[in-house]
Amino acid sequence: MAPMVAASDYPFRLFLREHCGVQLTYTQMLLSKRFVIDPTFRKAHLDLYETQDMAPDNFVTQPDILLPSQIECLGDDLHHYQQQQQQQQQQQYKRQKSEPLMVQLAGDDVKTVVQSALMIYEHTDGKLAGIDLNCGCPQNIAKKGNYGAFLMERDPELVNEILTALRNNLPSSVAISAKIRLPADDEALKERIPRLLDTGINFLTVHGRTIVENKTKVVGCHVDRIRLAVQTAHKYNPNFPVIANGGMEHYDDVQSVLQSTGASAAMSSEALLETPDLFLKESMDIKTPKEQFHRQLSFAKNYLDICSTVGPPLPGVLGFNKGGSFSVVRGHLFKFLHRYINTDHQDLRDKLAANGVNTMRTLGDLRRLIEELESRYAKLTEDQWNELTSTSPLSSWYRRHRKPDRSVHERYTSVATDTSNNNNNIDDRKREIKDRIAKMKAQKLKRTNEIIPNDKPREKEALSITT
Ligand SMILES: Cc1cc2nc3c(=O)[nH]c(=O)nc-3n(C[C@H](O)[C@H](O)[C@H](O)COP(=O)(O)O)c2cc1C
Repeated sequence: MAPMVAASDYPFRLFLREHCGVQLTYTQMLLSKRFVIDPTFRKAHLDLYETQDMAPDNFVTQPDILLPSQIECLGDDLHHYQQQQQQQQQQQYKRQKSEPLMVQLAGDDVKTVVQSALMIYEHTDGKLAGIDLNCGCPQNIAKKGNYGAFLMERDPELVNEILTALRNNLPSSVAISAKIRLPADDEALKERIPRLLDTGINFLTVHGRTIVENKTKVVGCHVDRIRLAVQTAHKYNPNFPVIANGGMEHYDDVQSVLQSTGASAAMSSEALLETPDLFLKESMDIKTPKEQFHRQLSFAKNYLDICSTVGPPLPGVLGFNKGGSFSVVRGHLFKFLHRYINTDHQDLRDKLAANGVNTMRTLGDLRRLIEELESRYAKLTEDQWNELTSTSPLSSWYRRHRKPDRSVHERYTSVATDTSNNNNNIDDRKREIKDRIAKMKAQKLKRTNEIIPNDKPREKEALSITT
């Protein structure tokens, strides 16, 4: 699971590990300059519950010490949470499920990056898999802050210095890695990779897009250029692990990327947010719209249950006192349920998105929304299921700003196509999809006009940080 600002929270990581077979997870990116000087920032951002039992002090949130934002989000679930904590203490429960967890740092200063890495190492008693340096963030905030992909482009030697210093200062039990985007051309790629490996890093993640290919300009991933990166690294060291990242939407994409690049592992971000079981072969067994609906709902329910048991996510950038934890949870629900609330039941989407008085605040509110959604679909016949806008592959959150003409996965509509009386003609199908898109656009426009300007959902703020 990729590092993701406001989405790599501990409950989500736990959900991915326990239910979806994910083997390596990351925290969100932490800005080392803030991290070393600001205890509030540390407390709101660094969720290392996995290693709490070993942690010598309250450097990070303890399982039984919640932030105001988390308490607000728990609502009536607070009692359940407390019971769970007590039970675990009575049984002297140790969190055996300690994950291989990578902590991602960002910065342009050798001293503060190393200092924050050492602080994390010390306070987790060394129980973390590694430290990753963000060398790929293409956002304006990284441009201003001189980190991520901008630092890589402006001053690759400084990036190498930071990585060398991390490797020299952290024990060998802690892996050091870099996550990069593709440089503009292949020559730069072939030059850059050996220099990165010279620093002594233990592995490298290559996101197969360039610095300009982000947000709505996101394109299909350059798998061929990831392959070149792997080949270049293997020339240097035949066993060097490279993780391929970018553009994998389904299990079969993962397999084909692994096969065609020779990468050691695959990392996913956006697709995993909507279909967290994408690394499991069983995810391919989902065939009908109805099965898909129940699968999406079960993601949401399981995730909420984990939040209730281990505590809601830390708020990170989204608010220490009020609303922040809930906004992270809500962000996940948006993606799990996007197909249905963005098309068939937009009133529920608006309810979920609304920021203001009398709106949702707690896990219980979210459960009630799921129940409502479930009840609305409960009585549909098979034919009615197949008529729904939400069954189109284009209605997925993942596809929200991707071009419909390229590699659209039609898998989920296969049953709809087979069983409907008049849908067999491809032109009909294309027309139908076009109509649906037009309808969705009109509905979106209507919603935008209805939203009060200052009522911007926090979900959107978090989503704007998509490196
Ligand atoms: C919500 C969101 C937050 C992200 N935050 C980070 C981050 O903190 N650090 C980072 O290196 N990449 C971040 N990324 C980029 C992803 O890690 C990943 O490289 C990118 O989305 C491409 O993978 P995908 O095509 O599977 O989505 C973020 C992406 C998303 C969607």
